[in-house]
Formats: sequence, C-alpha cells, structure tokens
Amino acid sequence: MESKPILVTGGAGFIGSNFILQWLAAESSPVFNLDKLTYAGNPGNLESAACDPGYRFIHGDIADREMVSALLSGQKPRAIVHFAAESHVDRSIHGPDEFVRTNVNGTFNLLEEVRAYWTQLASPDREQFRFLHVSTDEVYGSLGADDPAFSELTAYAPNSPYSASKAASDHLVRAYHHTYGLPTLTTNCSNNYGPFQFPEKLIPLVILNALSGKAIPVYGEGQNVRDWLYVADHCEAVRTVLAQGKPGETYNIGGRNEKRNLEIVQIICDLLDELRPDASITPRRKLISFVRDRPGHDRRYAIDARKIERELGWRPRETFETGIRKTVEWYLSHDAWTRAVTSGQYRQWLAKQYS
Ligand code: NAD
Ligand code: TYD
Repeated sequence: MESKPILVTGGAGFIGSNFILQWLAAESSPVFNLDKLTYAGNPGNLESAACDPGYRFIHGDIADREMVSALLSGQKPRAIVHFAAESHVDRSIHGPDEFVRTNVNGTFNLLEEVRAYWTQLASPDREQFRFLHVSTDEVYGSLGADDPAFSELTAYAPNSPYSASKAASDHLVRAYHHTYGLPTLTTNCSNNYGPFQFPEKLIPLVILNALSGKAIPVYGEGQNVRDWLYVADHCEAVRTVLAQGKPGETYNIGGRNEKRNLEIVQIICDLLDELRPDASITPRRKLISFVRDRPGHDRRYAIDARKIERELGWRPRETFETGIRKTVEWYLSHDAWTRAVTSGQYRQWLAKQYS
C-alpha cells in the first residue's frame, strides 16, 4: 500500500474536487488540498470527503513561498498535482492581472519550492517524485475547420490572456525538467464538463438558464467548436499519467467529442425538455439568444489523444451523449449546491459579462 501523500493544488475548484473525490475512492494514499478559495473554489464540493482520514484541506496561496515550503517539508508529499489556476477566458479578458499572478508567478513560486524540496529528498523518493502540471489545449491556439487536431508536437500559439498565462506556466514546467531534472509531467486537455462546474462556463450556465426559462447567451453565431471531455474521464487520465507517465513528457487528453457550441446548447435544451417538461418554457430552444462575440474568440479546438491512448492505455469512458445526461441529472439533483454558488458574486459577474 502506498501511504505517502500527494498534494493537490486548486482542489476546491471544479476539476480538482472531482479529482480528489475520485482519488479517495480509488487510491490508497492520502491527499492534501492546497487552495486559496477564490470565487471558483468551493469547500462544499468536498463535503463528503471532510471526515475522510485520507483527506486534509490547507487554505493558502501557491504563490506564498514560505507557506508552501513549510507544507512540503512538513507533509512530505510524493507527488504534486497542480490544478490551481485562474481558469475562465472571459474573466481573463476583463482582468488579466490575476491570471499572470496565479498562473505564471504562482506556478513559478510553486516550482521553486518544489525544486528545493525535491533536491534534498533521498533515493528512492527523489527518483519516484512527480510534479504533474494540469494545462489546457487552448495553449495551441485556434484551428481551421480542416486542420489536423492538436498533438503534443503542435507549436504553442495562445490567443487569450488565459491561454497565454497557461502557456507561460507550461514553459516554466518544461524548463524545470530540462534544466534541473525535476520529474515533471504536463497534461493538456480539452473542455471539461460534469458535476461541480461553476456556472459561468458554457455547459452549467446553459443548464441553469434553460431550467429557469432565462435567455441562453450564445456568442456570435454559435459555430465555434470545442472538444468536450467528461470530468471523471479527465481525472482518470491524470491518475494514469501520474502513475505511468514518463518524466519530462506532455500528454494531450481529449474526449473524442468535437461539437459546435450551438449544437451543445440545443442538446441541453432538448434534454431538459425531456427531464423537466414545463409548458410555459418548452421548447427551450426558443430561449437561445445570440449575443456579442467574445473578443479574439478561438474558432476551433480539437485534440489528438493518440499518445496517451497508445502509451498509457487510457481512453475516455463517456460519449458526449452519456456524459451530458449525467451532468444535467447532477445539476437537477443538486439544487442546494447551485443556490449556494449562484449568490452575490456570481450575480455581479453575470451583470458585468452579459449586460
Ligand atoms: P476552477 O477555476 O474551477 O478552479 C481553480 C481552483 O484553484 C479554485 O479552487 C481556486 O480557489 C484555486 N486557486 C486559484 N488561484 C489559486 C492560488 N493562487 N493558490 C491556490 N489556489 C488557487 O478551475 P478548473 O476548471 O477546475 O481547472 C483546473 C485546472 O485545469 C486549471 O489549471 C485549468 O487551467 C485546467 N483546465 C481546465 C479545463 C476546463 O475545462 N475547466 C480545461 C483544460 C484545462
Ligand atoms: P467556456 O465554457 O467559457 O470555455 P472556453 O472558452 O475555455 O472554451 O466556453 C465554451 C464555448 O462556449 C466558447 O466557444 C465560448 C462559448 N460561450 C458562449 O457561447 N456563451 C457563453 O455564455 C459562454 C460562457 C461561453
């Protein structure tokens, strides 16, 4: 049994909390969660883990080097899984500062403290240690309709302050492996969806608006394409890379689900019509409202995930049809969670973004 803990950063966010819950159910080693609890962090996501002896929450900022140093030397993790980031493109357009602060400087500070900790580890802990950096397909930029999907060899061409800050953090991680030998792993995945996603992102926003009969904002003509990955599949991929990935390598993770935004919105409307029929608002497709496009809106993302499939044997379990049904059902049965996260700050965001 593996008893040395892993340290997750940003574990109170959407993907991090799904990852921790899956980890506690599937793995035998403890997990510590370092999270600053920004607007996107919600300890309520981990309510079911609170009493688990294998779980511990630490409230703090990855950029706080003194705290990170004490945490590493005190808890002696065997691996770091780094999710913490500012993650919303639209917010990065309104205010890029925090994206550079957390995604670039925060990752740099974390890397420096992890390097100091790792350097003094004795064998075999030193060889077995891993720093897994969770990144995005958005670092590769935008594809034309007929371009091949992003592979690990595609040149970086980030277009938003968010993707530029993630690209910078990816480069730092790469450099820490190349220069110092830190055993790093980087994953670049496509758009996640599933339980606990904050409803400023497309899928939960559409579910909640469609449920309550509000207008559903679709940017531009809704023709932008994303690849959609069910969050549990992503978490499984991250666990696979952590266990079997080769230090210094990067792995693209995708859901084999390329879809136009308008199609996503229509699927959700139809599912809600089926699961929550309401004569006053059905068909919900009539709620679709085309709004001003996002500045610099990337046209298409697509992931070539053959490397992780071939080398590590991972493949997504969910199709979009099964994953979106689970997701809609989750939101329908977690009304209290939704009410808690859609209070004060969330309303201010909606007013700013969609006014
Ligand atoms: P999220 O915004 O839901 O959660 C981010 C978490 O990080 C929050 O709990 C927040 O409190 C915490 N955090 C932010 N700044 C911090 C800091 N300075 N110190 C400590 N904690 C801090 O994000 P998510 O959607 O769960 O994404 C997780 C990671 O996956 C991010 O690195 C993101 O770039 C990447 N990613 C996300 C997606 C997606 O579709 N959501 C796709 C590809 C990659
Ligand atoms: P989002 O969930 O913000 O993820 P990302 O920008 O990281 O891909 O958006 C997904 C797609 O949906 C993106 O093309 C922008 C679009 N979108 C809308 O059309 N309307 C909305 O209200 C939002 C939030 C996004």
